[in-house]
Amino acid sequence: MKKISLTLLSLFALASLNATADVASAQKFADKYAVIAKNIDPAFAGPSAEEGKAFFNRELLIKGKPTACASCHTANPADQGKHIVTGKPIRPLAPAINEKRFADIDKVEKNFTKHCNDITGRDCSAKEKANFVTYLISVK
Ligand code: HEC
Repeated sequence: MKKISLTLLSLFALASLNATADVASAQKFADKYAVIAKNIDPAFAGPSAEEGKAFFNRELLIKGKPTACASCHTANPADQGKHIVTGKPIRPLAPAINEKRFADIDKVEKNFTKHCNDITGRDCSAKEKANFVTYLISVK
């Protein structure tokens, strides 16, 4: 009995450690993008979760169909998404829910470039990325 509760205890400790580490890693991305955005535009007042949320849900016409980041990632980044073309499930984007998000710079940049181009026809700006990640961190 004692052994089991000790194991459980260490599992919980590990789980919470992971959760903090991953939100912290996402926060590093938000901070980096914010520094770049500020370098580009000194008037940039810092990332806004609200603007990030608006960006996430903003629909643009793609091949005649209103499409947003939320079309694949769903309106709630804490939920599992679904690819609008392939129907494949997409694990949640919110780092508090999915600890694998915003851990790897290459993966993050690759996905930003691809999806921003898909939706807006260009890569996202540092400001848009800072807002976007800040919004995702705010989703629990
Ligand atoms: C056509 C479907 C689709 C749309 C639309 C879409 N995404 Fe994605 N997104 C995906 C898929 C698929 C993945 C990768 C799934 C995985 O890694 O589990 C992903 C992953 C990501 C990641 C990776 C995060 C990480 O560290 O793992 C980011 C960032 C991202 N998307 C941003 C965006 C943004 C910003 C938009 C809107 C401009 C957007 N996505 C729109 C399908 C989409």
